[in-house]
Amino acid sequence: MATEGAMTQELKTEPKPPSRQLHRCPGWAAPFMASPLRRLFESPEKLLGPWVEPGMTILDVGCATGFFGLPLARMTGENGLVLCVDVEPRMLKGLVRRATKAGLIDRIEPILCGQDDLALSDHEGTVDFAVAIHSLHELPDIEGGLRQITAALKPGGRLLVVEPRGHVSGATWDHEIETAGHLGLSVGRMLDLRRRYAALLKKP
Ligand SMILES: C[S@@+](CC[C@H](N)C(=O)[O-])C[C@H]1O[C@@H](n2cnc3c(N)ncnc32)[C@H](O)[C@@H]1O
Repeated sequence: MATEGAMTQELKTEPKPPSRQLHRCPGWAAPFMASPLRRLFESPEKLLGPWVEPGMTILDVGCATGFFGLPLARMTGENGLVLCVDVEPRMLKGLVRRATKAGLIDRIEPILCGQDDLALSDHEGTVDFAVAIHSLHELPDIEGGLRQITAALKPGGRLLVVEPRGHVSGATWDHEIETAGHLGLSVGRMLDLRRRYAALLKKP
């Protein structure tokens, strides 16, 4: 299992992806992604609040219907922006509906991406804080995704990766963190979350 100290060094050899079964969250699951029941187990404000400041540009990779994207838009305030990226049109439709209803749509940019293209080329070097929550393992090319996220971050920008334990194997998690190290991100902190892996990474 990757440890914090080991990952602060950039790896010289390219990490090999472990074999894994690719699973993509289906579009029909959209109405369940932001169910109020979920808030009983997960608080977006508690998890993300420590890293968000007003006016930030934030990236939410695999945003679904905005369980995290909407609270992020509230936290970054009227001068902030949340880039909400997803490959599934039904997820983004739900996001736009929920953000409009909540009066937050002006702070949200929904981005429909491709399987291997997060469609962030217009946003390179603009992001203060990025999150990939329960989503990085769904990307067919984890290294390609991390490379695009890294390019979108400002120098000193942070990326929080959270993955569900069990559903995501230890080998896949190690691969994600090793790949991030290979791309020059350093592990600022491993977060201690119940039943989840979580790491806060930093671009130099
Ligand atoms: C398990 S859901 C998590 C959603 C959200 N982060 C949350 O925790 O509520 C994973 C999301 O990643 C999206 N996704 C899957 N493959 C993707 C890809 N290649 N690029 C961008 N998003 C993708 C899915 O459509 C889905 O909305």
